[in-house]
Amino acid sequence: MLVLGIESSCDETGVALYSTEHGLVGNQLHTQMAMHAEYGGVVPELASRDHIRRLVPLTQACLREAGKNYADIDAVAYTQGPGLGGALLAGSAFANALAFSLGKPVIPVHHLEGHLLSPLLAEDKPAFPFVALLVSGGHTQFMAVRGIGDYKLLGESVDDAAGEAFDKTAKLLGLPYPGGAKLSELARLGRADAFSFPRPMLHSHDLQMSFSGLKTAVLTAVQTVRAEHGGQLPDPVRNDICRAFQDAVVDVLLAKSRQALLHTGYRTLVVAGGVGANWKLRAELAALQVRPSPKGPPEAVRTYFPPLPLCTDNGAMIAFAGAMHLQAALPAVGFNVRPRWPLAEIVR
Ligand code: KG4
Ligand code: ZN
Repeated sequence: MLVLGIESSCDETGVALYSTEHGLVGNQLHTQMAMHAEYGGVVPELASRDHIRRLVPLTQACLREAGKNYADIDAVAYTQGPGLGGALLAGSAFANALAFSLGKPVIPVHHLEGHLLSPLLAEDKPAFPFVALLVSGGHTQFMAVRGIGDYKLLGESVDDAAGEAFDKTAKLLGLPYPGGAKLSELARLGRADAFSFPRPMLHSHDLQMSFSGLKTAVLTAVQTVRAEHGGQLPDPVRNDICRAFQDAVVDVLLAKSRQALLHTGYRTLVVAGGVGANWKLRAELAALQVRPSPKGPPEAVRTYFPPLPLCTDNGAMIAFAGAMHLQAALPAVGFNVRPRWPLAEIVR
């Protein structure tokens, strides 16, 4: 079975072909980053128009890459939501029209389901059940995943998503959009403990998180530094701030991951979403252990990440999720898009 996957929820157009026999056979991506950079953020109308421009050529390139024709496609999966309404509609219209013209089924996919299943595209795959940590620009959530389509929300950020906090903090440090990845590279150059930022809700005894206060703490630090340096933010000090900010976010995600594993009893953690590309988070989570009782020995946790290029938005994860739905014969629904769509509301 060959499934075409279409991703257009935000500022990346992704088109991929997943074969249930041969795995990922085509994967094409166009990022709109440069187009939005001059505005300092995603402009929804420009995003929609660009998706419309890119979808056909990317699909043709994807078919060429896989050595396939339109007639070889068995189903078309697309991101139904959450995301930008106009951007989602571009992908939805394209996917539905193509599937209709081919006489093949169309499979709407939840964007976050795509992310959380994306580690299954790696050579070394996790087995169910597992805890999924979804850390993207729009969401920071812990889910208990018992199988395809069986997801339970354990906790989430009550305000900014971790990726959003990275991007907003990068912006106030004067880094070009989208600054999350750049901030994390500068953090490599910063000194430990030069600054100390709060770890919000670290001891809240639940799996809720909060990242918006952290951004305010960085703003206060930047204002103090500027006042002391004649309005300037010297590069070495900025690097120290990047390091302290990243350490704070990673500490919270680590502590909450341990809590989620203890709460579920699972010993497998799957990390997905753009912030899953963060080097510090990957290094810390790869060595994660949990201690079920204070006097008992620590227990090892197996942590899985998607292949690095599949951490951020892409069509492969949508094609893969679509293929899993098709195999499980999960019901498919129509043409509409769902810009706001909590993952916990998936009903099967
Ligand atoms: O999953 P994704 O591509 O899009 C959403 O669905 O939101 O995630 C994008 C987010 C952005 O906020 C970006 O700054 C963040 O992932 N990100 C990173 C890194 N690479 C991307 N954050 C921290 N460190 C990184 N290396
Ligand atoms: Zn995403």
